[in-house]
Amino acid sequence: MKIKNICCIGAGYVGGPTMAVIAQKNPGIKVTVVDLNVERIAAWNDTNLDNLPIYEPGLDKVVGEARGRNLFFSTEVDKAIDEAEMVFISVNTPTKTYGVGKGMAADLKYIELCARQIARVSTSNKIIVEKSTLPVRTAQAIKSILDNTGNGAKFQILSNPEFLAEGTAVEDLMAPDRVLIGGEQTPEGLEAIDALVNVYGTWVAKENIITTNLWSSELSKLTANAFLAQRVSSINSLSELCEVTGADVNEVGRAIGKDSRIGPKFLKASVGFGGSCFQKDILNLVYISKSYGLDAVADYWEQVIIMNDHQKHRFAKNIVKTLYNTVSGKKIAFLGWAFKKDTNDTRESAAIYVADILLDEQASIVAYDPKVTAQQMYGDLDYLQTRDTASNKKGLTVVNDPYEALEDAHAIAVLTEWDEFKTYDWQKIYDNMQKPAFVFDGRSVLDKVALEKIGFQVYVIGQ
Ligand SMILES: NC(=O)c1ccc[n+]([C@@H]2O[C@H](COP(=O)([O-])OP(=O)(O)OC[C@H]3O[C@@H](n4cnc5c(N)ncnc54)[C@H](O)[C@@H]3O)[C@@H](O)[C@H]2O)c1
Repeated sequence: MKIKNICCIGAGYVGGPTMAVIAQKNPGIKVTVVDLNVERIAAWNDTNLDNLPIYEPGLDKVVGEARGRNLFFSTEVDKAIDEAEMVFISVNTPTKTYGVGKGMAADLKYIELCARQIARVSTSNKIIVEKSTLPVRTAQAIKSILDNTGNGAKFQILSNPEFLAEGTAVEDLMAPDRVLIGGEQTPEGLEAIDALVNVYGTWVAKENIITTNLWSSELSKLTANAFLAQRVSSINSLSELCEVTGADVNEVGRAIGKDSRIGPKFLKASVGFGGSCFQKDILNLVYISKSYGLDAVADYWEQVIIMNDHQKHRFAKNIVKTLYNTVSGKKIAFLGWAFKKDTNDTRESAAIYVADILLDEQASIVAYDPKVTAQQMYGDLDYLQTRDTASNKKGLTVVNDPYEALEDAHAIAVLTEWDEFKTYDWQKIYDNMQKPAFVFDGRSVLDKVALEKIGFQVYVIGQ
């Protein structure tokens, strides 16, 4: 089966870049990305590509090439669904904040709404592709809704989890380590799998497209994120041990990373992982394990989250302790707010939690991030509901010039590994700071030796 018309529901960090690349690589397929968020769609359609709602290196070029040719962004959800032969569901699946499974289970209300909407508007058979990260066996629920509420159209459900990493999304989509497609092992299911293999096959080598049953595919995505997060928590746990024993976590990471069985990636200690996925997907895995009565499995994975929370608290508390046990009224400059470099995404960013703890200690925070807006930062703090909006506004000042953030500061906290931080005039910064001038490098990005030579007192995690 050759697909000519694709619809993607959800124009977020996954839907937008993924569909842009599918459209660029398949000029013969019309790809329409739809979203309920009018502002987001308007930004995707902005003639100035600097205003795309998502910052990813190289994304502007891909969108610029395909948009208006065979890539469209629209709020007309029903129309796009009905016209498509293949519908990707790429909506958000946050952790539940209410009811049974609160704080752990994935909130599938957006997925269910999509399924009901697809069933309601479809007048022809379709392949439905789960692009969102979902608990294992969600396809069964989607199928039940489609089969029981539809107008007689037939649906095949595929699981096609996305493995892109924010900050390198375009690169990852252009040359994925693998594409994973799960489907029913029936003749119709295999035909649907084949149709999606052909979409990716225009640029991904066939041997890198793995096909499995539905449940293996759904569970593999949660497993991949759990393994990656586990590595971060593992090295972070050892960073604390390094600090008390005189070992250096960077050296330990380098030493073990050379072991081909371990490998060098994700072995950098930091203030903790963030992002929209790791925490929610592990919590989801924990919840699923618990719901099957597998308490030992659940406890094992939950420890990854506990260690991550510990690392964020430890970093913030160390700032307070080092600044003579009080940061009240002191200016603490934050370099970075995004959860990692090269993205404007701040979901679950360590910066938010470190700020929250320091605001409780009555610090006066001044933050600078090259891609994150003030509105976003205030929204992140308000979301925690630790204090009211006015108090957050009073405690946090957001500036567009890093030197303004750093001037007269008692301490600097590096929360994101943006490359530009390395290029600053650190002598000038030192001259304009309060003394002793403290730097807390939560990402190990700055040149510690050079900073110490200038006169800074530098703390780097794991040293
Ligand atoms: N962000 C990542 O790095 C990443 C990587 C791999 C997988 N994922 C998974 O992909 C999914 C999407 O993540 P994201 O980061 O793109 O989320 P996002 O919040 O950036 O985007 C989701 C979009 O879906 C829209 N939406 C929700 N319900 C809708 C509906 N009924 N109709 C139309 N639009 C609707 C929202 O308005 C939003 O713009 C999640 O399940 C996530 O776990 C994310």
